[in-house]
Amino acid sequence: MRPGIQYRSVPTYDFSGQVAFVTGAGRGQGRSHAVAYAEHGADVVVTGLSRGIETSQYPLATAEDLDETVRRVEATGQRALRLRVDVRDEAQVEAAVGRAVDEMGKIDILANNAGIWNVTDLVEMDERRWDELVDSNLKGAWLCAKHVGQHFINRGEGGRIVSTASTAGLVGSKGSGHYAAAKHGVVGLTKALALELAEYDVTVNAVAPTGVATPMIDGILETVGEGALNAVSDASGSMNVLDEQLIDPRDVTEAYLWLASDAARYVTGVTLPVDAGMLAK
Ligand SMILES: NC(=O)c1ccc[n+]([C@@H]2O[C@H](COP(=O)([O-])OP(=O)(O)OC[C@H]3O[C@@H](n4cnc5c(N)ncnc54)[C@H](O)[C@@H]3O)[C@@H](O)[C@H]2O)c1
Repeated sequence: MRPGIQYRSVPTYDFSGQVAFVTGAGRGQGRSHAVAYAEHGADVVVTGLSRGIETSQYPLATAEDLDETVRRVEATGQRALRLRVDVRDEAQVEAAVGRAVDEMGKIDILANNAGIWNVTDLVEMDERRWDELVDSNLKGAWLCAKHVGQHFINRGEGGRIVSTASTAGLVGSKGSGHYAAAKHGVVGLTKALALELAEYDVTVNAVAPTGVATPMIDGILETVGEGALNAVSDASGSMNVLDEQLIDPRDVTEAYLWLASDAARYVTGVTLPVDAGMLAK
């Protein structure tokens, strides 16, 4: 992982007085989004998995990871509410949204980041591997949007939903068809929610990152090997047009900040690639 990438120019945002609800916030991109919303003035509901996922090919975030994200959010001077939530479980999602509203007063931004990736050909895949991945990446995004969306409608002051798809949500990928199907689903969910929630002044968008340097990629490279990335590389072995194979979590976070800000108030239903040119090929 490339530590602490430095930008020469960055936009500034003001999320003061707002509350962001971030899923899969224990590490990787979710932690980056949570801390960045706090750095720009938001209080953050830091949510993460409450139990392991059997078919995952790498370890998922731990309770200590979640604690560390809370520590980093609080270090900015903002409030953090730590909640264990498996986004596949509607009862847990509903309870977490209820507690967040009770304790933080409201939710303004839903960051639908939680997800897993694993590598198996579709014709060899068992049902459990399909279900656990599709539920974590797609059903979870819907359940969170459902319950936070109900809060947005009841509150009547608009809202923002940003979800993480993937370049695999815009093109096919060999060896990970359940992931491609789930992430294509996130793109469709984003468009449908954008239509349904527009009258409530809620914008709904997604980002589609290329490979990002996070424990997900590290874990897959360890267990599956470099072949995992070959599925999305071209004949020259390269995935991206710009720079290296992996971008930094912060590159995705910048899109999350913009899409949640007033600057993007007339942007809805889009999936924004943050792909270092991968999809231009
Ligand atoms: N890393 C990449 O190359 C890459 C590229 C494109 C998209 N993505 C997507 O970005 C998002 C963030 O992934 P990351 O790269 O930070 O990986 P990561 O593994 O570091 O983080 C994912 C987080 O989601 C959590 N999670 C997984 N399933 C969950 C569930 N059912 N309920 C609650 N939490 C759950 C994990 O515990 C972990 O904290 C995911 O949706 C992933 O599919 C990743």
